[in-house]
Amino acid sequence: MSEAASSAGKPANNTFTLTDNRSGKSYSLPVLKGTLGPDVVDVRKFYGETDCFTFDPGFTSTGSCESKLTFIDGDKGVLLHRGYSIDELAEHSDFMEVCYLLLNGELPNRAEKYEFEHIITHHSMVHEQLTFFYRGFRRDAHPMSILCGITGALAAFYGDSLDITDPHQRLIASHRLIAKMPTIAAMAYKYSVGQPFVYPRNDLKYAENFLAMTFAVPSEPYHVNPVVAKAMDRLFILHADHEQNASTSTVRLAGSSGANPYACIAAGIASLWGPAHGGANEAVLNMLQEIGSKSRVGECVKRAKDKNDPFRLMGFGHRVYKNYDPRAQVMRRSCHEVLGELGIKNDPLLDIAMELERIALEDDYFVERKLYPNVDFYSGIILKAIGFPTSMFTVLFALARTVGWISQWKEMIEDPQQKIGRPRQLYTGAQRRPYVPLAMRG
Ligand code: CMC
Repeated sequence: MSEAASSAGKPANNTFTLTDNRSGKSYSLPVLKGTLGPDVVDVRKFYGETDCFTFDPGFTSTGSCESKLTFIDGDKGVLLHRGYSIDELAEHSDFMEVCYLLLNGELPNRAEKYEFEHIITHHSMVHEQLTFFYRGFRRDAHPMSILCGITGALAAFYGDSLDITDPHQRLIASHRLIAKMPTIAAMAYKYSVGQPFVYPRNDLKYAENFLAMTFAVPSEPYHVNPVVAKAMDRLFILHADHEQNASTSTVRLAGSSGANPYACIAAGIASLWGPAHGGANEAVLNMLQEIGSKSRVGECVKRAKDKNDPFRLMGFGHRVYKNYDPRAQVMRRSCHEVLGELGIKNDPLLDIAMELERIALEDDYFVERKLYPNVDFYSGIILKAIGFPTSMFTVLFALARTVGWISQWKEMIEDPQQKIGRPRQLYTGAQRRPYVPLAMRG
């Protein structure tokens, strides 16, 4: 019996009773207990027994799966990966360890870590034919569109890791995705600026290698700044996984049909691109640039509060965190470290960001709605200081989140309870009516 099966949502020895006021009938629903977090009412037999669906657009009260990967307590600002807190991981660990942890369930020992890093390092090159694929894109294509297309195309290049029923092939696909994503992302950048692609270097660590592939040019040596590499690695850790968010749920839903892992990760990248999700880091920088000066921050906060104006403060608010985003706190510290190291003392965008943070945190509208700066509020400032164009910000998020997506995908495939995801709906359209021939339509 697999690990997932042995502990699948333990009954809490309790039930939840619902009474249907239309018929007077009562229904007893099992309550399942996790290791942390709220109990879960099991509604799997609900339709069969009651002839009703549950209704929860946006899944605000619905658990879509059982998972052992990541736990969030939004009220307390807690984020745990396999039980380890994000603050401790960001402080003491590195991204390769976090990848191993998410994929395998435990932190690696020395030998396991060495072997994992070796595997990832030696999978970082992409098939040479893939370089021609890039040339089909316009030079001004958004790198997220390139990332999405190229990742989907990996299935056409790595046909020996598409059999999702084979654990070995699943593992190889996972390693390939984690290893190649920095190469693919850096190539998307190089293509957009018209510079030659830079091959991965096996003597560099994961984040260093990504920086080199992005910023090195063949005409001169490139030295990785260790503070910048550390900040990059930490940024990857902070974005590695985040429970059942929109893109992760998209990966799981796509994978539930048996689609190959490359296609599923491409679907996750597409979902991440939206400004309410991973696209927010790019939107934050655009917003700060649009505000332009500290004196205009008040005006912008006023707009964000106006119900007749669709404008929202990008980088503020979170569906789950209603106290603070623990990733944002680490990112804030990292932001100051990087700006200090790079000698950026008076960054006008940082000044605007700090003023915005100050005003919003004191404003009743934001306080009452528990809208705090999220991880994307600070990450854009760091990435800009390192030299990334705003269009690359969400690409970096996708690069880091790939390990979370693939770990969640793997967990789902290995879960004996797994079924194709198929939500139902509340239909409010027309009732059955006879077809009207064209000549008789008004
Ligand atoms: N600016 C102004 N008002 C806001 C904001 C904001 N950024 N976010 C939420 N609100 C208001 C919203 O208008 C609503 O007010 P009212 O109760 O008066 O109608 C209330 O707060 C609750 O908002 P909601 O839309 O019901 O909350 P949600 O949980 O569905 O949305 C969110 C969460 C992240 C989509 C939203 O806060 C938002 O759009 N934030 C800006 C985009 C952003 O920064 N996204 C990155 C999220 S973190 C990275 C990631 O995990 O992807």
